[in-house]
Amino acid sequence: MQMQRQTENRSCVLRCCLSVLLTIALLLGMSSCKKEEQGGLTMATDAAFFPYDYVENGEIVGIDIDIVHEVARRMGERVRIENMEFDSVIAAVQSGKVDFAAAGITVSPDREKQVNFSRPYAVAQQVIIVPVHSTIAQESDLVGVRVGVQSGTTGDLYVKEHIGEPERYSNGAMAVAALKAGKVDAVVLDNLPAEKHVSHNARLKILPTPLTEEAYAIAVRKDNPQLLEAINNALDAMDKEGVLARIAAEYGEKAMPTEEQGIWASVHNNFVKDGRWRYLANGLWVTVEISFFAALIGIVLGALIGIVRSTADQTGRLKWLDYFCRLYLTVIRGTPVVVQLLIIYFVIFGSVEISKVLVAIVAFGLNSGAYVAEIIRSGIMSVDKGQMEAGRSLGLGYGYTMRSVIMPQAFKNVLPALGNEFIVLLKETSICGYIALQDLTKGGNIILSQTYDAFMPLMAVALIYLLMVVGLSHLLKKLEKRLQKNER
Ligand code: ARG
Repeated sequence: MQMQRQTENRSCVLRCCLSVLLTIALLLGMSSCKKEEQGGLTMATDAAFFPYDYVENGEIVGIDIDIVHEVARRMGERVRIENMEFDSVIAAVQSGKVDFAAAGITVSPDREKQVNFSRPYAVAQQVIIVPVHSTIAQESDLVGVRVGVQSGTTGDLYVKEHIGEPERYSNGAMAVAALKAGKVDAVVLDNLPAEKHVSHNARLKILPTPLTEEAYAIAVRKDNPQLLEAINNALDAMDKEGVLARIAAEYGEKAMPTEEQGIWASVHNNFVKDGRWRYLANGLWVTVEISFFAALIGIVLGALIGIVRSTADQTGRLKWLDYFCRLYLTVIRGTPVVVQLLIIYFVIFGSVEISKVLVAIVAFGLNSGAYVAEIIRSGIMSVDKGQMEAGRSLGLGYGYTMRSVIMPQAFKNVLPALGNEFIVLLKETSICGYIALQDLTKGGNIILSQTYDAFMPLMAVALIYLLMVVGLSHLLKKLEKRLQKNER
């Protein structure tokens, strides 16, 4: 009897393991079909830094980008550009996710420990932007006021070291938008982007004394000195031939796209012009894809762990498995999902070429599994003990009773909690931008960084999430009703 029970347990666990593996294999298969063409060099940038790196007509352009394409042309190479948060750019080079990065990156001793820098190709300064009528007139006036910066930049570091904790935004345009909206009192930003923002906006000005003197260079992987040398040779030649100066001058003249007045003009500018709605549509697809498959992994993994945990609780068996499950729950629930996502992307899959969508699916799936596990466990616990005893005394095996008597009731009991978990999951995927995935939220941010309008793109993004959640809740309610009907 005891032996039969154990075999049943094992086969149940085995089956669940198999389903998880199958799902993962399926996903791997899917992602390898979609893998972008290999070969050439990959580079990281943050295309929200006009006029060095920005998006125009759906394409990433700017001083950095022109320089890099010219460098690559001279090396006989092609470059594939990965657009990500500035925070992640150096880490992407350091971990080998990309070969190099050009993003108006200031050479600094700390960064030199992580990456190699090419020879500089531009000089820059951190400057202070304030509203025209501001009482802030110099650096010392910044103490005690709210200063906006772009997270992870030299401006961020400077303010933190010399003035106080800044308010960190994911790009300069957002910091400036916050300044315009009165959310911060000043913004510290690189001079050229700052000048562009100010000439675009009559209510802002730049204070005369800059905070720093800096140089921009290309960041190259430490383990690729040949690439560094090739880039340096190309930059030297381009400098001598006046190519660097020509590119800088060309973009120096460009003005930021102007804001549209009036609601329809604004709708047109944010969504219709240059086909910007596509950022939302494509982003929506990425969000749905990640949420769906992550929920699938979450439910399988969660059911598996939930069963192991409650079996261990109720029968005292599966001790070791239970131990591992508890360890997993502790680690996953004890750390933020964004940290888990970054660890999986940069550390675990650091040196392997893998689709980012897959990374996100795995990260969110593993994360959700932990929460689903506890939900399922509470569901199993909520089913009266007598049910199991009744099943067993009818001669049914443990696994069979679990599967066909306990689980269906447990599932019904926890459906609202599960629904809640999937709603959370759907919205949680909005941090995918950290690993350069263009999900719905990132899509909205990209529009914002092109139109310098926060209201329209963010409202649109919020509305789309809201509609999805309302739809999901509706489906869940239907499912609940159907299950209730079956009961009668
Ligand atoms: N020069 C500053 C730094 O290296 C800011 C660069 C920001 N670049 C960007 N593409 N957002 O920290």
